[in-house]
Amino acid sequence: MRKNIVAGNWKMNKNFEEAEELIDNIMTALEDKELPENTLMILCPPFPYLEMCSEYSDDSYFAVGAQNVNENDKGAYTGEVSAEMLRSLEVDYCIVGHSERRAYYGETDAIVARKVDQLLKNDIRPIVCCGEVLEEREAGKQFDVVRRQITDGLFHLSAEQFGQVVIAYEPVWAIGTGKTATPQQAQEIHAFIRGLIAEKYGKAVADETSILYGGSCKPSNAKELFANPDVDGGLIGGASLKAEDFMGIALAF
Ligand code: PGA
Repeated sequence: MRKNIVAGNWKMNKNFEEAEELIDNIMTALEDKELPENTLMILCPPFPYLEMCSEYSDDSYFAVGAQNVNENDKGAYTGEVSAEMLRSLEVDYCIVGHSERRAYYGETDAIVARKVDQLLKNDIRPIVCCGEVLEEREAGKQFDVVRRQITDGLFHLSAEQFGQVVIAYEPVWAIGTGKTATPQQAQEIHAFIRGLIAEKYGKAVADETSILYGGSCKPSNAKELFANPDVDGGLIGGASLKAEDFMGIALAF
């Protein structure tokens, strides 16, 4: 059975002390209330806090994910972080192709594909983001955009490799805007994505793939989003910065 996942993308927020406090509060909340069955929590802090997160969790409370990785093995890439480095810090997941990286850092589908390869080579599971901008939605192009992102970013993988991938559908117009996709809009695209995976890799692989929703997900709307058959959890930005809100979402399955 595919996993329900709630992943917190902290983005570029929190200093060291604040990060420590947030992790502490999440641990306390998890000691107080168990996550629903078959639910995995992933924390994706900025690079400098990955090791602290791994040490705190010891894998028993939550998994640890990075927010980005470089597409090359190693070498003269000042300021960059490789998949091998992440692996050596016991990082198990990594976000790839987030719309902010696509928009501000020129991350193309071809680069996403190379990053995914680096991660898989190092036993790290990619959380691959896709989603349309507002103009594309208004022009009815959301299915074409998502098909291109998934096909060009992921469909070079073998079925076995694809089995390691988590997908996050994040309509760009919903990220950080307070405008959430309706449960119907989310379900429609999630079912479409699962259909694409089934066409390429077969139904068994598609049924095992967790497809997360992202974009202004909060405790107040998580339940109705997660109730959809093809919505297997969320990639949470703003609401992952407060333990109480993040836990509220994690308990919404
Ligand atoms: P948001 O961000 O929850 O703040 O909208 C989601 C994301 O960008 O992953």
